[in-house]
Amino acid sequence: MSRSRLFQPIRVGSVDVPNRLWMPPMCQYSAAPSGPGLGRPTDWHLVHYGARALGGVGAVVVEATAVVPRGRISINCLSLHDDALIPDFARLADVIHAGGARAFIQLNHAGRKASGRPMWAEADGPATPDIGGWEPVGPSPIPFAEGLPVPRPLTGEETAAVPGAFADAARRAVAAGFDGVQIHGAHGYLLHQFLSPASNARSDRWGGSGENRARLMRQTVRATRAAIGDAALMIRLSATDWVEDDSRPGAASWTLADTRGLVVDLVGDGADMINVSTGGNVVTRVPAGPGYQVPAARAVREALRSAGAPVPVAAVGLISSAAQAEQILVSGDADVIEIGRPLLTDPMIGRAWASRLRAEATALPAPPRQYERGTRRL
Ligand SMILES: Cc1cc2nc3c(=O)[nH]c(=O)nc-3n(C[C@H](O)[C@H](O)[C@H](O)COP(=O)(O)O)c2cc1C
Repeated sequence: MSRSRLFQPIRVGSVDVPNRLWMPPMCQYSAAPSGPGLGRPTDWHLVHYGARALGGVGAVVVEATAVVPRGRISINCLSLHDDALIPDFARLADVIHAGGARAFIQLNHAGRKASGRPMWAEADGPATPDIGGWEPVGPSPIPFAEGLPVPRPLTGEETAAVPGAFADAARRAVAAGFDGVQIHGAHGYLLHQFLSPASNARSDRWGGSGENRARLMRQTVRATRAAIGDAALMIRLSATDWVEDDSRPGAASWTLADTRGLVVDLVGDGADMINVSTGGNVVTRVPAGPGYQVPAARAVREALRSAGAPVPVAAVGLISSAAQAEQILVSGDADVIEIGRPLLTDPMIGRAWASRLRAEATALPAPPRQYERGTRRL
């Protein structure tokens, strides 16, 4: 038996997950853009997710799946906007379970970053109406970047309908057999757009104060919790916009200080776990390097613990070895490790890391007792 932390089980809400090495959501741009296949998982999704589930991760979080068709990141993204789609998503949940992993799914509204093309499209820019594109919406008429569409601001009534759309999609996901859902509050999509003063300039009840900007996220979490009973409810957040001094709440962008406050409220609203990422709402320089988002996960974990809300926290981003993953868990920076790109190149990486850690734990003869302290396994 491995004594690694990585391959120990963890409980998320009422859901037991066999280990702490997870697959984070990664868009596959493989659903049809229109017609009867709009938003449905295809054979590609089954083979792609099934292979990763088989490869030893404890949980697979299926890619950003829109709660309404106009919330799709690209014209080829998944969407779970209709009860008629439940059987197709049930096949996906079944395949992941058959591989031995827990099945979660990320629910999203892309807001001003909607209506894109697949990453590999030859043409630049957003999808045009002739290929199934649409006018994106957002909190305010502020584009993500120069040259990108200026979003149409949602009316107050349209904004108030967003939590219900998340809750309905979450109910469908659980009906399809998923063990839980992840609300996408990161990477500059609609909920993050409302949170950040860099993208939200509203003066109604959905903008202005921190409390108003967080209202949409908090109502979404509460509505989703009410819709899914005791299935797991996770929230992915960008802990910072990477724009300015992160220690200062009330800045002109979303900061780590804001995140530390919000996560405590979200647990009160029904969140079982926080998955920490960063960035995506503002074009800026991100200091990406090995484990660069781990300090943000640690800060979130500390905030939750000191507020008496110690739900699990996941870290992600350029974590590329079993030893690095172990160290993050052992040092108490996070409870779960997510690895994205490494799983794209090697679906079996979970099994490889498990056998490496197990071999390290068991293959050597017992050390002389003089060396015991210095050779103790992680
Ligand atoms: C192809 C691709 C698609 C992605 N799609 C999503 C997504 O749907 N939702 C999301 O929250 N993050 C998405 N991400 C970000 C990953 O979940 C992850 O946070 C990121 O790749 C950093 O982790 P890594 O260094 O282990 O790859 C995507 C990343 C990649 C490479």
